Amino acid sequence: MKSRMSPCLRPRPPASQVKQLVLGERKGAGFFGAVYVVKNYAELEPRYKRGFDGPIVAKFPHALRFLSFLGPIKFIKKSTLRELDNLRFLEKHWKSIQQSPEFPKGAAFSNGRLPVVPILSVISTKGGTALIKPLLEKGKVLFLKDIAELVEKNGGKLPDSYEGVNMEESLRDIYMLVQAIYKTVNVDGQPYSSDIRPPNLCFVRDPGLVKQFGMSKPGFALFELDQIPTRRIPCLSRAFIEGDTTFEKYRDQFLLYVNNRK
Ligand SMILES: Nc1ncnc2c1ncn2[C@@H]1O[C@H](COP(=O)(O)OP(=O)(O)O)[C@@H](O)[C@H]1O
Ligand SMILES: [Mg+2]
Repeated sequence: MKSRMSPCLRPRPPASQVKQLVLGERKGAGFFGAVYVVKNYAELEPRYKRGFDGPIVAKFPHALRFLSFLGPIKFIKKSTLRELDNLRFLEKHWKSIQQSPEFPKGAAFSNGRLPVVPILSVISTKGGTALIKPLLEKGKVLFLKDIAELVEKNGGKLPDSYEGVNMEESLRDIYMLVQAIYKTVNVDGQPYSSDIRPPNLCFVRDPGLVKQFGMSKPGFALFELDQIPTRRIPCLSRAFIEGDTTFEKYRDQFLLYVNNRK
């Protein structure tokens, strides 16, 4: 079953004013956003945390370097809301994605939910609209650097058995999920191409976190599950994973990227 998202039907986030979000360490930055630890997370009203009581991060749209006084630029500003819209949209169609023939049967997330860091709330601040998410802590998840170390120790390949899990199979599960989404969901008349470049992935290993993610065992998960921006930035398209890329090609690109990260 194909679904179509009409822009006018996109739910608007319940943006609210919060007095102050005290930001700490920057955990990372990708193309559109920058992710910061929220130091005063304990003071934040529970409704912004959807019952979650651990440390959180706030993801902001980038401002232009040297022109940051202008605030985040419009095209990038929209990306935060688009990320939310897209995740909610995929969550809504999760059941049909699970029924797709491409959907992996034995994955950690097969009988759970989308293996994506949840968006707890959206907060409108002077610095732009921020997405609030749980902080994933080093040790509980493997970040790219940790994965690079593992791969190096394992002769350039993902280990067959890490925490009892075949990591290459776990990566394949993410790849198959993306195929299932590609075959099932249409957005604005186009198949949904998920952006599963390596910096969007982590490996969830802590048993408590595995449970929080609704996973049945450790495995790869995503910081975000946005669309690839190929149509908007064609010159970058080579770097993205299209719906018809084979798993072997994706895995090799993944390993190449991870090895260059060391
Ligand atoms: N919830 C989180 N906890 C810890 N680190 C995070 C979290 N979300 C993102 N990061 C870090 O920030 C980087 C960029 O995050 P991402 O959401 O992919 O932003 P962008 O949209 O800019 O690509 C990730 O590669 C990761 O290292
Ligand atoms: Mg990213």
